[in-house]
Amino acid sequence: MSAEQQPQVSEAQIAVHWREEQYYQPPASFIAQANAADPAILERFGEEHFPECFTEYANLLDWDAGWHTTLDTSNPPFWKWFVGGRLNACYNCVDRHLATSSNKAALIWVPEPETEDTKAVTYQELYRRVNEFAALLRDFAGLRTGDRVTFHLPMVPELPVAMLACARLGVIHSEVFGGFSGAACGDRIADSGSRILVTMDGYYRNGDLVDHKTKADEAVERAAALGQQVDKVLVWRRHPDRYASASQMVEGRDFFVDELLANYRGAVVEPVSMPAEAPLFLMYTSGTTGRPKGCQHSTGGYLSYVAGTSKYYQDIHPEDTYWCAADIGWITGHSYIVYGPLALGTTSVMYEGVPTYPDPGRPWRIAERLGVNIFHTAPTTIRMLRKLGPDEPGKYYHRFKHMTTVGEPIEPEVWRWYHDTVGKGEAVIVDTWWQTENGGFLGATLPALQPMKPGSCGLGVYPVIYDENGDEVPAGSGKAGNICIRNPWPGIFQTVWGQPDRFVQIYYEKYCRDKDSSDWRDWPYFAGDGAVQAADGYFRILGRVDDVINVAGHRLGTKELESASLTVDEIAEAAAVPVIDELRGRAVEMYVALKPGLAPSDDIARKVTAAIEHEIGKIARPANVWIVPDMPKTRSGKIMRRVIAGISNFTDVGDVSTLANPEIVDDIRHHIQAAKLARGQVPRELSPEEAEEIKAFGHAE
Ligand code: WTA
Repeated sequence: MSAEQQPQVSEAQIAVHWREEQYYQPPASFIAQANAADPAILERFGEEHFPECFTEYANLLDWDAGWHTTLDTSNPPFWKWFVGGRLNACYNCVDRHLATSSNKAALIWVPEPETEDTKAVTYQELYRRVNEFAALLRDFAGLRTGDRVTFHLPMVPELPVAMLACARLGVIHSEVFGGFSGAACGDRIADSGSRILVTMDGYYRNGDLVDHKTKADEAVERAAALGQQVDKVLVWRRHPDRYASASQMVEGRDFFVDELLANYRGAVVEPVSMPAEAPLFLMYTSGTTGRPKGCQHSTGGYLSYVAGTSKYYQDIHPEDTYWCAADIGWITGHSYIVYGPLALGTTSVMYEGVPTYPDPGRPWRIAERLGVNIFHTAPTTIRMLRKLGPDEPGKYYHRFKHMTTVGEPIEPEVWRWYHDTVGKGEAVIVDTWWQTENGGFLGATLPALQPMKPGSCGLGVYPVIYDENGDEVPAGSGKAGNICIRNPWPGIFQTVWGQPDRFVQIYYEKYCRDKDSSDWRDWPYFAGDGAVQAADGYFRILGRVDDVINVAGHRLGTKELESASLTVDEIAEAAAVPVIDELRGRAVEMYVALKPGLAPSDDIARKVTAAIEHEIGKIARPANVWIVPDMPKTRSGKIMRRVIAGISNFTDVGDVSTLANPEIVDDIRHHIQAAKLARGQVPRELSPEEAEEIKAFGHAE
């Protein structure tokens, strides 16, 4: 391997990465059974066959009517796929498997308490439950094709049942991650215009039965304050014989789903034949401004894309037992727990709780007992399992043929533990880079055809790196740039719900060559991640280039964190920055300045943490809240996040001479670094990429 393949920022960096980048070849046993083992597939999906090559994905589905146009670019960059085609996503994930697989498990659900039985939901039972719930949504909740409905559901089979019931009716679902707060859920209800909220009374997490219904009350209140009335709250019960929440059921608004379902026993709802371009669901994500973005995904393009990538990149065969340990509340769960695997008629495992509960052997016990052969998780989970139970995988007889990693860059050292210890050296690893907006994998290797390289997401679907001027950064140049996607692909989101201008502005404006052009070549997709490409073509993702903090694989917008802090009366100004965190990749650190005349106190810092937990959820809980006398600011009054990010990470804060108040920098640096050392938060040396990321933080401002 030549030095050109390394991201050439400094000598030290080359030294650090030299050893890390050796190839790992897939085992012969994997190649022998792989769905994509014939190199002809690389040729079939070559750019000269674009866009028709993607009909291969669409042909994995059953269509009610064929499409007349594979890719319609007439209204750029609102691409339309498989135009003229009609299909139903629920039919494709459920009904069509009944003839051959009615008695096969579609879902295997593992409750968190080990004393509770694992439940298999066969395709027949899924069909039954989806039909009954669809009848309830239509007849009791009054939902019609095109309406939106918000779910705030944990990892229970009722969530895929509810998603598929919506898909059956052509109702657009919007699942909000169960760990998000009631307020965050309320914001998303209002943004999507949902009149119906589907929730659950409680669920198990880390050994506790968490009260979840209380969040629904807050969500409804928040939505009302934003002008959106919620008519009905449909409440599933975790244990149908007892209500797990302290919150009162509101007469005429709140209903127990298990009670209502008695009226729909045996109901059959015909799947509604939907245009390929009809929206299937919304998935909210964070961006550079406070308002969350409802990424709108299509029915035909999306389902084709997740079916195709599940088959070829995940190597899912109908007879596999596949476990994606993500939460369905994120895009990974939508695409690779529910829609992709079920479209292929496989068995998808769902786990309710925390992977390390009650001990870090839990995932391997589940895998051993259920015979899981494809395992899919995020670096943050891998790091945690490695830290808490480095030898645990060796104690179990699980055997994986394939393992996936998603959500953040994985350190080569962690990758090797995943490969050697979790996979016992027998499994291929596919590092999949993509985003909520993308529907499915963009950067990944085809595991039987392309060797693995720790820390690199490999090749993928038409990626390219551009510099700030829009010039292509060639492979092997050692220079980092912005990773973009040249060609549209069927899984791309259709728009930001209710904010089409933001859709264009955030993802396409930066590199658009001609706004009047309807040639997709003039509209590269800007992903907002930095990357370098080695001479062999492999991409290495360096992280976000905007003000989004990736905590444990989840994107948190700095603006959301800051506006949550500003809900505390005493706070005048707030800034969120990332700190490098061994387990979670990045953690959030908040800097706040108080209104005049107020004295700093631990109590105020605690209020800020509580406000963030209330507005967003525990996942966003800051590692530290620092009360500072003033923020470093530009002369135009903008907070310089890169400067405070440098302080928090003990790195160089860069040039501060242009600040309006340069003297404040040394003052806060001294105070905060001393406090961090006193708290035992001793920094480790950052890798050159990490240091670069911190230095670039806030660059978008
Ligand atoms: C990051 C999750 C490196 C990236 C599917 C992206 C990754 C953001 C990887 C999207 C990976 C995701 N390697 N970085 N394999 N996968 N990312 O929307 O910064 O929750 O932009 O989608 O996560 O996060 P999102």
